[in-house]
Amino acid sequence: MALVIRNADIVNADSRTRGDIFVENETITRIGADLDAPPNAEVIDATGKLVFPGFIDPHVHIYLPFMATFAKDTHETASIAALIGGTTTYIEMCCPNRNDDALEGYQLWKSKAEGNSACDYTFHMSVTKFEKCTEGQLREIVADGIASFKIFLAYKNFFGVDDGEMYETLTLARTLGVITTAHCENAELIARLQQKLLAEGRTGPEWHEPSRPESVEAEGTGRFAAFVENTGAAGYVVHLSCQPALNAALYAKSRGVRIWVESVLPHLLLDKTYAERPGVEGMKHVMSPPLRDRSGQKLMWDALEAGFIDTVGTDHCPFDTSQKLLGKDAFTQIPNGIPGIEERVNLLYTYGVKRGTIGLNRFVEAASTTAAKLFGLFPRKGTIAVGSDADLVIYDPSYRGKVSAATQHINCDYSGFEGMEIEGRPSVVTVRGKVQVRDGQFVGERGRGRLLKREPAYF
Ligand code: URP
Ligand code: ZN
Ligand code: ZN
Repeated sequence: MALVIRNADIVNADSRTRGDIFVENETITRIGADLDAPPNAEVIDATGKLVFPGFIDPHVHIYLPFMATFAKDTHETASIAALIGGTTTYIEMCCPNRNDDALEGYQLWKSKAEGNSACDYTFHMSVTKFEKCTEGQLREIVADGIASFKIFLAYKNFFGVDDGEMYETLTLARTLGVITTAHCENAELIARLQQKLLAEGRTGPEWHEPSRPESVEAEGTGRFAAFVENTGAAGYVVHLSCQPALNAALYAKSRGVRIWVESVLPHLLLDKTYAERPGVEGMKHVMSPPLRDRSGQKLMWDALEAGFIDTVGTDHCPFDTSQKLLGKDAFTQIPNGIPGIEERVNLLYTYGVKRGTIGLNRFVEAASTTAAKLFGLFPRKGTIAVGSDADLVIYDPSYRGKVSAATQHINCDYSGFEGMEIEGRPSVVTVRGKVQVRDGQFVGERGRGRLLKREPAYF
């Protein structure tokens, strides 16, 4: 059945136009004024709404064995929450650890998503060791449509790679034309600082940030950039949290290094005082890199608006209260991560666009289009154009609400953004032409999401 969106105020990364959108067989086939709708077409009137391309979250964790436990979501819960919040595609970090086999890990992560996600998805493939069989396995995974790698410079002895392994990974990525995303913190410094703080009896979540100060992240970012430069690869710094790290990435960019920067919602909206809250309240706000001093936040927003920061993801990583309490005696045992897949678009719209911090087109670019372009999904995703998938967010800017764990759809008993005001939310969300959400309710088809095959492009 055809779908026609009438009176659409269409906002892309580079334009704002009015018209009708005509969808057939999952694809946008026409955009124009007063398009004829066949008698059996579903017609949605978008008067008073904004119409955005489906949003893309380039950094989520759903299935994640980590820090002696497992992240709480399934693809069913995470994808429904994502869609209700306007995200129609996510890129999950496929994270086998150093003791796991990469190819078996990839098959396992794929099996968790297949038939369970209600929105479209793909993976960044983590390389957590580089040994004899790794190259062949990664070639197979890339041939299966995975065009991005992930490395961790942090999490020593678990996900973390050493410099030699980083070099091998980036060299192979360069050969295969794959972009490599990276968590940039110095693992050795973190381990030393953690030991020192614990030995001094500093065990609470407020010591998480001092164990990974900004200089630790800046060092990791600068080192990653130097390895990207000297291998000729392409790099993407995930969840960058502070000015010294941004300076390191931008200095590399100024030298012609192919490097891009992601920010995530917690670093834009929360600060380290949240992790300093007593007891489990503080633990709920432990993630890495840590929440920083609020004084640095304006710079992050300005950098986002200026395009020095390229994308906004979530690093969605839900551990519930009982899991956070694994770290009640030592902050080093608190499972790292804050959920956010459901709130990203609404909070970015409210605290970015409505507060005048970023423009409407920039919002679309940072939360959708750039991720599509960087990760081989454009123009299938990330834009409203003839020939693109009909992933559409008909957005109601007059909605008013608050973030609350009591009403969220992820499988977690708290929200890191509890009580924050929201000014706007998706009214209708479509994935490849099918209505999946109406006014905060999932009304679609579970398990309809597809694994998006991507082609390498960074030669
Ligand atoms: O604290 C975080 N960020 N948890 C998820 C794992 C990662 O580093 O992305
Ligand atoms: Zn990370
Ligand atoms: Zn992450």
